[in-house]
Amino acid sequence: MTLAIILVTLLSLIILLLLYCLLGNRQYWKQFNVKGPEPSALFGNYKDVILRRVTSFDFHEKIYNSHPNEKVVGLYRFNTPVLLLRDLDIVQQVSIRDFDSFVNRGIEFGDKLSTNLGSSCDNTWRLLRTRFSPIFTSGKLKNMLHLVERCGDQLLEHLDATIPSSIECDVVNITKRYAIMSISACVFGIDRDMTKPDEKLEEVNKMIFTQYQALELFYVCPELLKKMHFNALPKKISEYFIRLVDEVINKQRNGVPSNRKDFMDLLLEMKNMTELKGGKKNDGDEITVLPVTDEVIAAQAMVFHGAGMESSATTLAFALHELAKNQDVQEKLFQEIKQQVFEKNNGELSLETLKQLTYMSQVFDETLRMYPIIDLQRKVSASSVQIPGTDITLKRDDYIFVPIRGIHYDEKYYPDPYKFDPERFSPENVKSRHPCAFLPFGLGPRHCIGARFATVQNRLFLVKFLSHYKVEPPAVTKKFTYNPMKITLAATDGVPLKITRRNIS
Ligand code: HEM
Repeated sequence: MTLAIILVTLLSLIILLLLYCLLGNRQYWKQFNVKGPEPSALFGNYKDVILRRVTSFDFHEKIYNSHPNEKVVGLYRFNTPVLLLRDLDIVQQVSIRDFDSFVNRGIEFGDKLSTNLGSSCDNTWRLLRTRFSPIFTSGKLKNMLHLVERCGDQLLEHLDATIPSSIECDVVNITKRYAIMSISACVFGIDRDMTKPDEKLEEVNKMIFTQYQALELFYVCPELLKKMHFNALPKKISEYFIRLVDEVINKQRNGVPSNRKDFMDLLLEMKNMTELKGGKKNDGDEITVLPVTDEVIAAQAMVFHGAGMESSATTLAFALHELAKNQDVQEKLFQEIKQQVFEKNNGELSLETLKQLTYMSQVFDETLRMYPIIDLQRKVSASSVQIPGTDITLKRDDYIFVPIRGIHYDEKYYPDPYKFDPERFSPENVKSRHPCAFLPFGLGPRHCIGARFATVQNRLFLVKFLSHYKVEPPAVTKKFTYNPMKITLAATDGVPLKITRRNIS
């Protein structure tokens, strides 16, 4: 009898949910005269993305390109209205000037580790961001540089031992190893063995970077799921990070900061404070208090690992791909490394030396323009708010998407956008563009907190790798297709290249 009642209730809920999705409000954008493609029943405009037939990158770029005269485009994900921004003045206003109305990303996992910098909300986010920002100052990065450099050296030793004079391979395997090693060394204080991949970590990484259908439900009935404490992520992910943090903090370091001066030491200092206080937006706000539990610590370790690992590995692989295709750029970069690092600074890799690599910076930015690893800056409105320069008034919890790839390939800002051309990032050319036309790290107070770390980590890799190896296209080249099952940009068949050892005199 009880089972029958449960089944009938569940069935009724499912039917109600389906009816809501099928018949719900699809007139939302019409009231503001916002144009957009006609939504279909159930999935709205996102059928192919939700069924993982196309990547979210391709979908949003197509929508961006097919509405050249619109400042904004109205979409529906299932039944949820989403406003896609095309106009850069609006992007600037929403990301920077009106930031307080758009603090949150609307990403909820319902997971034990939800209180992390990337998905936390409102004053909890403010509290965490204030706490973690000092981790990325030049002084702190200086302290970590030797850890990253050691990873670069170990990578070279490994490559020298395993690569004959020349080889064709998927370079993602190389850049991923470097990214795992450098993030592990700096985030977890773990020195990994380059020759022995950690199978458990590989498994967890696969889970972290896979699209979960369950997460789509948050577009359908977010409040219900929150009330049910619905967990959209596999438990294995939180278990892995909680165990790992316990191992490093409690067992290896006995609860006392070591002298490695890595993220884990900084997290340990935070743990010893037992609670964080602050996060006030306005004078009248109550102080937010966040007890620093092992789960809160593990949540930060997870987000720094997740946000920092795949992003750098992918960016570096695409940079090598473009350098292989553009031999003149590779040669110019090699000459810069030779002069600035080896001739001028005797091979010493300080932050100052890395900063002097101005052409490298242009190459890196052009790579991020063509291959932004995250497709959207996501925001939800905190209250009823007017979109500047339009008649649109959003209500609380409406979604805003900023299509990074669409903007990066817009001919208005980047003529001949499919051409790899680092000159686009010469100081004069940067000055002449809208300041929001380049946003691989997002914009405003919630932009990527790890951007400076990523810049150091990636420049260091390119210095080490390119001073020992040259890259060329493989014998058979194929156009990239991207994997719709991944949350970040990833080439379905990897990034195959020919690598040849340089004769270093
Ligand atoms: C090439 C490398 C990277 C790229 C392209 C990248 C890109 C991004 C983007 C687009 C965002 C969202 C920004 C927004 O919504 O406005 C973000 C957020 C974030 N990134 Fe990165 N990232 C990179 C590397 C890293 C690294 C190395 C770390 C950590 C060591 C990191 C940690 C984070 C964190 C914690 C956030 C959330 C910040 C917050 O919500 O306050 N990222 N990143």
